[in-house]
Amino acid sequence: MPVPSNFSISPLRDADIAPICALAREIWLQHYPGIITVKQIEYMLAQRYSPDAIREQLQAGEACWDKLEVHGELCGFASYERGAQARAMKLDKLYVHQQVRGKGYGAALIEHVAQAARQLGMDNLYLQVNKYNHGSVAAYLRAGFAVEKTVKVDIGNGFFMDDYVMSRSLAA
Ligand SMILES: CC(C)(COP(=O)(O)OP(=O)(O)OC[C@H]1O[C@@H](n2cnc3c(N)ncnc32)[C@H](O)[C@@H]1OP(=O)(O)O)[C@@H](O)C(=O)NCCC(=O)NCCS
Repeated sequence: MPVPSNFSISPLRDADIAPICALAREIWLQHYPGIITVKQIEYMLAQRYSPDAIREQLQAGEACWDKLEVHGELCGFASYERGAQARAMKLDKLYVHQQVRGKGYGAALIEHVAQAARQLGMDNLYLQVNKYNHGSVAAYLRAGFAVEKTVKVDIGNGFFMDDYVMSRSLAA
């Protein structure tokens, strides 16, 4: 797929936090029904996409968040953080609005994160994705990730994440 033009990827600023929360909500409610229950979606949105939670992550320097703008309009985001293993970066979030999917922006976000991880001296990029999120698993495979293992993570309130761990080398 040719690299798209007319887009930018840049660090999240404080003023972006509320629009990012709204965008995440829109994408999750469009994408995840059928993969997880709406109750689990609401639970996970409240855990991960409250303005306070994102602001705290940014202020603590725990995670990097980048926004995707297409023709100046907020259309997606990625977040990433140092992983549990040395020299491994975790791609924690990757979301592109449904209206602009399939145009290369997801791949551009992944390459942006891979480049940032290389600059921090990382050898490996990994992520977790729901095993039944087939389209996203396919996109990650296309981006060079391979399934490493499956995990079932208790996230509280009777909810679980039934995920693949996928990883790829950052060697050039
Ligand atoms: C996963 C996601 C970020 C991909 O973004 P995107 O902009 O649509 O992806 P791209 O257009 O850059 O596609 C990159 C490659 O993956 C492939 N791909 C993307 N989505 C796919 C799908 N649903 N099924 C099969 N292949 C897919 C594309 O065909 C392309 O391959 P190519 O280079 O051979 O043409 C996007 O679909 C998304 O936000 N999904 C919903 C949220 C989600 O599940 N996020 C991941 C959470 S872990």
